[in-house]
Amino acid sequence: MQTDNILLIGAFGQIGTELTEALQGIYGDAHVIASDIRRTAPEQAGKVHFEQLNVLDAKRLGELIDKHKITQIYHLAAVLSASGEQDPMFAWQLNMDGTINVLEAAREKGIKKVYFPSSIAVFGKDTPRHNTPQNTFMNPSTIYGISKLAGERWCEYYFNRYGLDVRSLRYPGIISYKTPPGGGTTDYAVDIYYKAAMRKNFECFLKEDTYLPMMYMPDAIKATLDLMHAEAGKVKIRNSYNVSAMSFSPKEVAVAIRKHQPNFKVSYKPDFRQQIADSWPTSFDDSVARADWGWKPTYDLEAMTADMLTNLAEMALEEVYDF
Ligand code: SER
Repeated sequence: MQTDNILLIGAFGQIGTELTEALQGIYGDAHVIASDIRRTAPEQAGKVHFEQLNVLDAKRLGELIDKHKITQIYHLAAVLSASGEQDPMFAWQLNMDGTINVLEAAREKGIKKVYFPSSIAVFGKDTPRHNTPQNTFMNPSTIYGISKLAGERWCEYYFNRYGLDVRSLRYPGIISYKTPPGGGTTDYAVDIYYKAAMRKNFECFLKEDTYLPMMYMPDAIKATLDLMHAEAGKVKIRNSYNVSAMSFSPKEVAVAIRKHQPNFKVSYKPDFRQQIADSWPTSFDDSVARADWGWKPTYDLEAMTADMLTNLAEMALEEVYDF
């Protein structure tokens, strides 16, 4: 058993929920502190050591680090791409000031490791869209993407200037069934499985041939932990690593679902999120992550579809469904 004490910020979100469980399994429940701006997440109640935290409150962040003798921070709180366009000033404030609060607290308090999630959204219209390389033109157009790119720069700055061991992944769209995501452009790929499991038709806000890089949650958790547990010398990229598992379009997911549910119907009604998706990579070159610390995904579209539908079939979806 390792003795690090870990603080997750944004622990009740889509990734936070599952990362909390995974970290509890590795470090023990007593060493994992789940914090979120929301006071309760019904599915987590009683299962986690919880502290309420708004990451914009730097004083409370510092107090929690002291109180729990925190040695590692996973900073997951962020406003995603589509929500960010509804309130750009708030998205900037939360994503940017929140990240700086975490980095600054980590520096001041001698935190050993910090995790910062970045995104495919850091890329933009000038980026080569197919097999997007690790280093290329960025020029993001969403506030979410701008804040994540700035966050990457701050992470590398803290590593170079202060020696802070900050590690980061550029996640593609993440698909999962335990906790619904909130406000992302890739989130149609979660919603579509919920609708299929509820035997409903699905109306997609992207065109049927819109390809985006994607990953199933077990691979996202594995990528995060593999990176965080890699020897420091192997983590050569200190802004953020491209990681990917698959690339597909809404039409291809529908075809994969129909192998299990032949009557599943999808219609297409693109909205403002189409423009966001069109500015992002369609597929990701993650060969640097593979070479540096051995990244290798497990799930492809078929395996993920079978697993999603099996798990969703066992859930009382009317109760948890909240897109
Ligand atoms: N899933 C995110 C979004 O769509 C991308 O990182 O906003």
